[in-house]
Amino acid sequence: MTSIPNTPGVGLRLAHLAEMVTTRPACAWLEVHPENFLANPHAAELLIDLSSDYPISLHTVGISVGSANGIDAFHLQRIRDLAERIDPVFISGHLAWSTYRNEYLNDLFPLPYNEETLEIVARHIHQVQDVLQRPYLIENPASYVGFRSSTFRETEFLAEIAVRTGCRLLCDVSNIVVSAHNMNFDPYTYIDQLPAGDISEIHLGGFTPEEDEGTPGAELWIDTHAAPIAESSWALYAYALRRFGAKPTLIEWDNEIPPLDALLGEARRADGIQREAYHAAAG
Ligand SMILES: [Fe+2]
Repeated sequence: MTSIPNTPGVGLRLAHLAEMVTTRPACAWLEVHPENFLANPHAAELLIDLSSDYPISLHTVGISVGSANGIDAFHLQRIRDLAERIDPVFISGHLAWSTYRNEYLNDLFPLPYNEETLEIVARHIHQVQDVLQRPYLIENPASYVGFRSSTFRETEFLAEIAVRTGCRLLCDVSNIVVSAHNMNFDPYTYIDQLPAGDISEIHLGGFTPEEDEGTPGAELWIDTHAAPIAESSWALYAYALRRFGAKPTLIEWDNEIPPLDALLGEARRADGIQREAYHAAAG
């Protein structure tokens, strides 16, 4: 398996694929949604070509570990086939469900956090890891609703998944900022409650405030990945680094995608914050 530097990387979307292949800008690593490449052999060939110059992480959006009716074994096999050609540094996915029977719902839906869902998610992560032959990374979701049937805090649920399956955790700092606003909790306490030793990667992405139709005058923050990273996310990122130590960090931008250089600029800012945290820790 290729090793990965702690230096920040960027999410590579199809809009930047040709430019990336042609210009090969300085960037520590790249993360892609493998689903964008499964039915696009030309793009897959370009990605395989890039993998000789950049460590690549596969961030799946179609492995639905929270689906009560099981995960799609054929889809999982296709991810494994691509991974065998890319030799990715990480393969990750979300604490969510996105399929129902054979329907792909094109969104990430929330789960109650209780013993029943814990058993389902853990069983599916074991299945994923058995097929992929490596630890899977699970990402904390952006939340808009909670469930009365939840008996675990999200951080407890993530920690217990890691204990039961040996999976690693992907801490999306911006998702914590979004969830903390929408669900009214303290994002710094959430970072404190995460099991620091289980974190392998950090995400940073932009979000969009929208009017909350259910509560006139209130704002709901939506995890759109369509904007620059907010100052509140940068501040929480600096705090997370002090708690977790330096971690491979990834800039996500999926909608209203800016020029590639703007993404690389966000990665440089993350790198600067990592360096400040390192120097602060070194005294
Ligand atoms: Fe993320």
